[in-house]
Amino acid sequence: MKISPCLLPIKILSFIFLLFASALQAQKNFVIPIETAHNVIALQVGNDQRLATIYFGTKLKDTSEYKLVRRMYRRGDDYSGILNSAYTPAGSRNLVEPAIEVTHANGNTSLDLQYVSHSTEKTDDNVSVVSILLRDPAYALEVSLFYKLYYKEDVVEQWSVIRNKEKGSVTMEKYASANLYLTAENYWLKQFHGDWAKEMRPEESQLTHGIKVLDSKLGTRSHLYQPPTFQVSLDRPATEDEGKVLLGTLAWSGNFKIDLEVDPLNNLRIISGINPFASAYTLKQNQEFETPGFIYTFSDKGTGEASRRLHRWARNYRIADGKGSRMTLLNNWEATYFDFNEPILSALLKDTKKLGVDVFLLDDGWFGNKYPRNNDRAGLGDWQENVQKLPHGIGYLVKEAQNNNVKFGIWVEPEMVNPKSELYEKHPEWVIKQPNREEHLYRNQLVLDLSNPKVQDFVFGILDNLFTKNPDLAFIKWDCNAVIYNAYSSSIEKQSHLYVDYVRGLYKVLDRVRAKYPTKEMMLCSGGGGRVDYGALKYFQEFWLSDNTDPLERIFIQYEYSYFYPAISHCNHVTDWGKQPIKYRTDVAMMGKLGFDIVVSKLEPKDLQFCQQAVKTYDSIKNIVWHGDLFRLADPRQNEFASLMYVNEGQDRAVMFNYLTENRYGNGTLSPVKLKGLNGGKKYSIRELNLYPGTTSRMPGSSTYSGDYLMTVGFNPGVNAARASVILEIAEAK
Ligand code: GLA
Repeated sequence: MKISPCLLPIKILSFIFLLFASALQAQKNFVIPIETAHNVIALQVGNDQRLATIYFGTKLKDTSEYKLVRRMYRRGDDYSGILNSAYTPAGSRNLVEPAIEVTHANGNTSLDLQYVSHSTEKTDDNVSVVSILLRDPAYALEVSLFYKLYYKEDVVEQWSVIRNKEKGSVTMEKYASANLYLTAENYWLKQFHGDWAKEMRPEESQLTHGIKVLDSKLGTRSHLYQPPTFQVSLDRPATEDEGKVLLGTLAWSGNFKIDLEVDPLNNLRIISGINPFASAYTLKQNQEFETPGFIYTFSDKGTGEASRRLHRWARNYRIADGKGSRMTLLNNWEATYFDFNEPILSALLKDTKKLGVDVFLLDDGWFGNKYPRNNDRAGLGDWQENVQKLPHGIGYLVKEAQNNNVKFGIWVEPEMVNPKSELYEKHPEWVIKQPNREEHLYRNQLVLDLSNPKVQDFVFGILDNLFTKNPDLAFIKWDCNAVIYNAYSSSIEKQSHLYVDYVRGLYKVLDRVRAKYPTKEMMLCSGGGGRVDYGALKYFQEFWLSDNTDPLERIFIQYEYSYFYPAISHCNHVTDWGKQPIKYRTDVAMMGKLGFDIVVSKLEPKDLQFCQQAVKTYDSIKNIVWHGDLFRLADPRQNEFASLMYVNEGQDRAVMFNYLTENRYGNGTLSPVKLKGLNGGKKYSIRELNLYPGTTSRMPGSSTYSGDYLMTVGFNPGVNAARASVILEIAEAK
């Protein structure tokens, strides 16, 4: 190879650097500081070549001091020397919950992992991946730990790759993505639980010694009971603006397990990954397995900052088209349920235009002929237009939409099947069910076996056919209503691979959909928010938070989701749920991506006028909501009202949403609410938006206020029973 003379010094320098790096790596007892803008995970390779976490949290100015941290602790002996392992192997000297547990080709169940090498690959100025290779000294089994660092956002995505170089198959009994190790006086876990229409109910408690497990074994709709998102505060429960806090979530749309173990020395071990439940996974010789990403951020300034970091990361790097735009919509689900036909839909398309939104979304019920989808008991799996309801097919409706100057979208639930369907009759072997047991249905349906490549082709084909036949189809709502009962695949080699290969199969299909249709807007839905995670959100622009659209309930649901997912990904629809007036319902739905699921033709004239105006108002503020920073000002669980605001990057425009959440005598904003995120030195004017026709704002005066005043004294949005929801625009006065 010829080296140009001007490149010579660079080559020599990099050679010297490599020499230096390998000398460093040959050394024992050195620190690998894995740093983002404010945080660090300091790992140490010990004399015994084992990789341990010696510090986690706010980074120090002098990296040479990380190795001094542990000498300040006198917490006792852990009897194994590897309690702080960066990836705890089972079966050798470990005494606590492992991150990885394997059975070797020869049946031996012990594993030890020692440091071999590490390297950093820089993608650009902000993103880099640190990888650390570990190997068992007695067996040809390797693990690489990966830390993808988003420097500015302070977000880490961590995963592992397990490589079998043994002569024969290795079975992985547990294969976590990450194994963190945190040190504090005590630990507070905020977890979430839920059900249909009851998503994201928070519970916060102090972790006691032993293991607290957050997990799911539901297979598909795996977050129905419990999502893979959680918050851990160190020393005391973090508040919005104070405290050390970690927000974590596993990017996996299937069974997950998060172990939170306060160990005997009072440190917190967090092990997060695919749930090993019924999922022992075999690696043949030379095969490797990549675990899903565990995503986390840490802040020593409370949950507000931590969540803004996650939002920025999600918009910049994870959710589909996170920096882009979204379409407002009219959905027909609650307006018609299964009961519609072409004339009804044609009228709804006109209403879509009348309302002023971008797209009409045709929901469930448009397919199935031998077994028409007239209720949820039949037809699922038979993706041909029902000729009775849609004699001219989807194509006609797409054109009809164009004639009305709106776009057309459609609902699918491609992973599922009703036993009463042609698909089930033709391909019973494609269905997940035990061969020798009674079927057990969830919402009258069963789950298709996405571990089977033929099923993957079928599911991809549903989407591909729709788009090929209707290139102008603009929007997809992808639903997933059933959980997996009687887990059994008639095609898979090893039953214990099913839960994992189902999700991998789903991702393969979604990869194909996105390769061919990269920009189509897709909403992730799962009987509400039964499946919301950053594994799936890579493919979807947005998600349906809950079928519960009662605005009062929704404020609480949206509030909790907002810790993990940015507003641009929240689909909020105005429906007839709840007793609040249309203004309240619309104001709540505006705090994300606005949609409607109401009968427009039945709206009172003033309500219609309000909605039309609201869509225009929304258009004027949506960029702040979608791309701005979120500041939570008043938590409805601690106040009789909720206040949140979004501030744009230039700090010259902000929107503040205020809702009365407990309508008792005299309740409301009795004191000013302190604003956040503004520029103290700027002057702002404040005006009320989205007023109901015929009402006037009762805002105090029209003077301008400094950012300093608004953030120190605050502003009273004047929320009370008569003004139960108030939206304010805060704009720099020039
Ligand atoms: C699920 C969704 C709803 C609707 C119905 C249709 O419940 O969450 O929004 O699409 O399915 O059957």
